[in-house]
Amino acid sequence: MGITKICCIGAGYVGGPTMAIIAQKCPQIQVTVVDLNQERIAAWNDEDVNNIPIYEPGLSDIVKEARGRNLFFSTEVEKAIDEAEMIFISVNTPTKTYGKGKGMAADLKFIELCARQIAKVSKTDKIVVEKSTLPVRTAEAIKSILDNTGNGVKFQILSNPEFLAEGTAVQDLLNPDRILIGGETTDEGQKAIQALVDVYANWVDKDRILTTNVWSSELSKLTANAFLAQRISSINAMSELCEKTGADVNEVARAIGMDSRIGPKFLKASVGFGGSCFQKDILNLVYIAKSYGLNEVADYWEQVIIMNDHQKRRFSDNIVKTLYNTVSGKKITFLGWAFKKDTNDTRESAAIYVADDLINENAKISVYDPKVSRKKVLADLDYLQTRNSEENADNVLSFENPYEACAGAHAIAVLTEWDEFVAYDWQKIYDSMQKPAFAFDGRNILNASDLQKIGFVYHAIGS
Ligand code: NAD
Ligand code: UDX
Repeated sequence: MGITKICCIGAGYVGGPTMAIIAQKCPQIQVTVVDLNQERIAAWNDEDVNNIPIYEPGLSDIVKEARGRNLFFSTEVEKAIDEAEMIFISVNTPTKTYGKGKGMAADLKFIELCARQIAKVSKTDKIVVEKSTLPVRTAEAIKSILDNTGNGVKFQILSNPEFLAEGTAVQDLLNPDRILIGGETTDEGQKAIQALVDVYANWVDKDRILTTNVWSSELSKLTANAFLAQRISSINAMSELCEKTGADVNEVARAIGMDSRIGPKFLKASVGFGGSCFQKDILNLVYIAKSYGLNEVADYWEQVIIMNDHQKRRFSDNIVKTLYNTVSGKKITFLGWAFKKDTNDTRESAAIYVADDLINENAKISVYDPKVSRKKVLADLDYLQTRNSEENADNVLSFENPYEACAGAHAIAVLTEWDEFVAYDWQKIYDSMQKPAFAFDGRNILNASDLQKIGFVYHAIGS
């Protein structure tokens, strides 16, 4: 018989959307998503489905369809673990901020807590699925915790990394390039793999469901993110060379992307990649390589991060330099704060670092983002601990209306590629600004010649 009850620990950007799709596509399975964060669970249960805690196009409709039918959000972690035959661990695995591996290694304390709680509560055999992104060989540690409880329950551990990207999570989940499942090669391991394959086979073609050993699956997730981020750092490195040589990075990207061996995706030069995954996962990869003494491997991947930091710094330096070497007291308006369009997530967004640099130069930052609140902007800056909260609050204003955010500004900086920015009345914005009016397009989304015709001094990335 197939799985009838799933529990997912962690109701975040991965757990929430992934379980919503499983519930939608498998009405025969009861899916319960649990989290320690009561506020987050309350938001998932909000009567008005537009108030769910994660903004993803199409997600609220799916939650509306399945919630209360076979999709449940709860803080009763132990009850959900006890009842489930299959438990997904989808908790956060941030970069360690203390002790050995500080600033590099993944912090696995939340994972270990989950494993201990599963071990404590379980009375029947369970399949435990690693959905979080984990260092290679983490399953070994989880197994050792689960196998040493002495209560006779049998556990199978699978690795099933998630490849969704934020902003397109629903589409990515409905139509994944592949589903990756790693498990033990024993009979029990293969049975557990099959149980998870059967869940996904409700909507994913079998030939897109890939099964491997556990270690390959764990390492493939870090590898995929490292390769994707490396493409962005590679094109960003070329963007700097383009600016010096008269080449145009958009043209270069198009030219190389038409080579079928290279391909066109992930070649968009930008102010630098952000998001909760790329930096964290590459640092983790670098740490793992170093821990095996593979220093050349570690240095190779670390360069992707070094280049990304350089790109963010280059953007803020260019603003200061262009504004006659001082932004002191000047109003600089940020269009966008999220790390990419169509998400309310701001983790590691380039906007945070660019703002921090400019505030160090005494600039006054005004922010407009269609999905990010002032509270979040200030929390992001406070997290850097560059200055105290009051100083951050004094130097940052937030607006609900983009035209008000831009009025009186010395410069506008586009930090996120929200579609609506392109459609703005740029003449109206120009008329309301200080002159000369500068525009720094960190996403190369605005029409350079239109803006220049209006009178803007327009700076793009890589041209
Ligand atoms: P998140 O911070 O949005 O959500 C994690 C949730 O887990 C939080 O709500 C937290 O309260 C909860 N949690 C932590 N410990 C818990 C515990 N012991 N019991 C119950 N709940 C607990 O994180 P996320 O973005 O969903 O990422 C989760 C994992 O998925 C990470 O390992 C990440 O690397 C990976 N991942 C993320 C993405 C993405 O786009 N965000 C994509 C693929 C993989
Ligand atoms: C990434 C991976 O794409 C996804 O497979 C994995 O599961 C989680 O990490 P995510 O971080 O949500 O997803 O978004 P992604 O689209 O990869 O963008 C990451 C960052 O790179 C964003 O800041 C984005 O703006 C930037 N980016 C992306 C570029 O600067 N140029 C590009 O060509 C593509």
